[in-house]
Amino acid sequence: MSSFDTLKKYLPWIQSPLIANAPMSGIAKSNLATAVTRAGGLGQIGFMDSLQDLSKELETAKEALADLESQTLPIGLGVIVFGSPIDAWMTLFAKYKPAVAWLSFASADELQIWTEEIRRSSPQTRVWIQLGSVQAAVEVARACRPDALVLQGIDAGGHGHEDGASIVSLVPEIADKLSALGFTIPLIAAGGIVDGRGCAAALTLGASGAIMGTRFLAAEETAIPTFYLNAILEASDGGQVTARSRVFDEIWGPNFWPETYDGRCLKNTVYEKYKAGGSIKEIRSWLSTRMNDPAAALHVKDMGSVWAGTGVGLVTKQGTAANIMQEVRDDTRKHLNRARLSL
Ligand SMILES: Cc1cc2nc3c(=O)[nH]c(=O)nc-3n(C[C@H](O)[C@H](O)[C@H](O)COP(=O)(O)O)c2cc1C
Repeated sequence: MSSFDTLKKYLPWIQSPLIANAPMSGIAKSNLATAVTRAGGLGQIGFMDSLQDLSKELETAKEALADLESQTLPIGLGVIVFGSPIDAWMTLFAKYKPAVAWLSFASADELQIWTEEIRRSSPQTRVWIQLGSVQAAVEVARACRPDALVLQGIDAGGHGHEDGASIVSLVPEIADKLSALGFTIPLIAAGGIVDGRGCAAALTLGASGAIMGTRFLAAEETAIPTFYLNAILEASDGGQVTARSRVFDEIWGPNFWPETYDGRCLKNTVYEKYKAGGSIKEIRSWLSTRMNDPAAALHVKDMGSVWAGTGVGLVTKQGTAANIMQEVRDDTRKHLNRARLSL
């Protein structure tokens, strides 16, 4: 059985290749998740601090997808594991039974506890775990026996691993390592995939599907403010205009993220000042003066944390999630065929 068939057994509505929107915290809500699932992908709702707000999103998705035949709520639900109250989350899992629980940002030991609890609370829910290194893949495969691993390359937008590799080397190395150890876990690639070329590349690297975060920032169903959308559509030369750094979390107060994680954002004045040697204290004080000065027009380029991956330069227009899904699927086939014919 192919890895896609394994996924299709518990995600019967998906079309090939598997494409899922990243469960972007506070951004990927029920509208996006519903639209992506309806378009034959795995729609996902991102982490929210307020479980009450999250319940509302899950309720909306449940109503919107009530006509789809599925033993589960046909979406994924993202959990940022570190610091999250496990008991409260299990109540949500037991109540809504999402098809996939997407876990990220924790040690193998913590992930093992969450995996076991989710399987107890909602046995139909499959556990996908996002990680970014060969070592983590081996540890998590052994500890959690996940239903899929999402391999996050360093091009990814949003939070990720400070040290990392692009999916070009990450996916095949993990595939080889896990296969040598006897694991047959579907692998799904994330990071820098924004179109059919990236998706085709991910499949040839050994992935069974692709995650897109940055591309879906420009979906009409995504909940982002206009300044954020415009910054995404205007950005070009993604490797130059984005950067990975911890400063994006440090500037607003204590940084709760464990030390191994940073995030990729559009570069802004905060980042430039930090890179030039400014201390967090100095930059915070500059920022607060500017924010309190009515004459200083504070621009998103000064301080906004516009999380985006290196593929941002390829995201040039807004579109519905259904159109994005169709275009990426069609282009993936086109590019795989073209590559085959050129051999
Ligand atoms: C705005 C934004 C928010 C994100 N939030 C989360 C999150 O809450 N949990 C998570 O595991 N990953 C999160 N990510 C990372 C994604 O899961 C994924 O790895 C990434 O979007 C893939 O790279 P791409 O943006 O180049 O497609 C986020 C990414 C973005 C762009």
